[in-house]
Amino acid sequence: MSELTELDRKVLWHPFTQMAEWSPLVITRGEGSFLIDEFGQRYLDGVSSLWCNVHGHCRPELDQALAAQAAKLAHSTFLGLTHEPGIRLAAALIALAPRGLSRVFYSDSGSTAVEIALKQSFQYWQLRKRPAKQRFLRLGDAYHGDTLGAVGVGGIDLFHRVFGPLLVQSIAIPSPAGTDGSVSLARIEAELEQRAYEIAALVVEPLVQGAAGMLLHPRGFLAKAAELCRRFGVHLIVDEVATGFGRTGTMFACDQEDVSPDFLCLAKGIAAGYLPLAATLSTEEIYSAFLGQRAELKHFFHGHTFTANPLACAVGLASLELLCRETLPNAQARLPELTMALGRIRGLRGVREVRQCGLMAGIELEPIEGRALGVEVCERVRAHHVILRNLGDVVVWMPPLSIATADVHLLERATTAAILETLQ
Ligand SMILES: Cc1ncc(COP(=O)(O)O)c(C=O)c1O
Repeated sequence: MSELTELDRKVLWHPFTQMAEWSPLVITRGEGSFLIDEFGQRYLDGVSSLWCNVHGHCRPELDQALAAQAAKLAHSTFLGLTHEPGIRLAAALIALAPRGLSRVFYSDSGSTAVEIALKQSFQYWQLRKRPAKQRFLRLGDAYHGDTLGAVGVGGIDLFHRVFGPLLVQSIAIPSPAGTDGSVSLARIEAELEQRAYEIAALVVEPLVQGAAGMLLHPRGFLAKAAELCRRFGVHLIVDEVATGFGRTGTMFACDQEDVSPDFLCLAKGIAAGYLPLAATLSTEEIYSAFLGQRAELKHFFHGHTFTANPLACAVGLASLELLCRETLPNAQARLPELTMALGRIRGLRGVREVRQCGLMAGIELEPIEGRALGVEVCERVRAHHVILRNLGDVVVWMPPLSIATADVHLLERATTAAILETLQ
């Protein structure tokens, strides 16, 4: 054990980690698609540092944007003041986002991006004199983050059940994953017919429910759900925290179904995985409901110390430019290679199903009673110089969008070897 590992064990408490059974791996550097540990060992970052790295680590263009901004201003509040990186990034996001989204409210994580959409939707209906509209529809197995509002519209029992008594209660619609979507759509329609008067919004992850295990929605579900929301006067909140910024092969997942939501929640890739940043985009109709005289107290009473941190916004701006110019085309070129690799993995003994949406994929293993196969595969794959994380029996692939062809091959070789070793 190194001195750092020992100290970590003494002083730290890690997220989503059973500390009693964990052995730390200390990462000291990043280089392109690779992470490097304290002993100089290189690992392919197969989950993009929890789904947020876009262009690889230590990209000169982003490092320069960060250094240039740090030399000018590291932080100043967005409460009552403003700054150039925050303004320019908002304009760039609006230019790329689905049409109709025209206002950006910053925060610093995916969870807060969702909390803000929930609170803005709720307050919008209060301001528009529809005070009964206080409830939210959400999908089964949904994941929208770990703060209490986001957990209230989540549906992953393993993470959420213990907090039940603390939560805003939401109405669950069966997830359309693995179905043709008709049952879920009929349930949404029935709920809206009966009680749209008390429903503020429907919250969805578009195309794929990531944290639930890369569960794929049938094509057309998002567009039809959007149409129902529109018909019954209920907001659509689309959580693109995981899917945004090219992850599904297009800039936003919404683009694939030509959907313009009332709220778009963005985080993770927004600042390329360099710094914490998030944005909740909304429409002019929503924004205008909050306008009035100061004394009317219509404004949105929400903000964080680091809202719109200038360093994060400067990196975000440089990241968008790089994404459009180079990284999204690279991701689109790697897509068929990834699909072929996953096709071969699908044929391995012990693999139950492979699900892919752009550069997000889940490899589901046949469960074996008494064994945590996902954990075992992710532990073994490190010996093959790749870092992966599992969601139960699902091994996740979520490489940086800048991944090279040779590294797609490494990802496939290492995952195949780890699965074979685990199941031998
Ligand atoms: C769809 C979705 N929403 C929200 C979140 C929460 O984001 P954060 O961890 O930045 O709070 C996640 C995280 O994985 C996510 O996948």
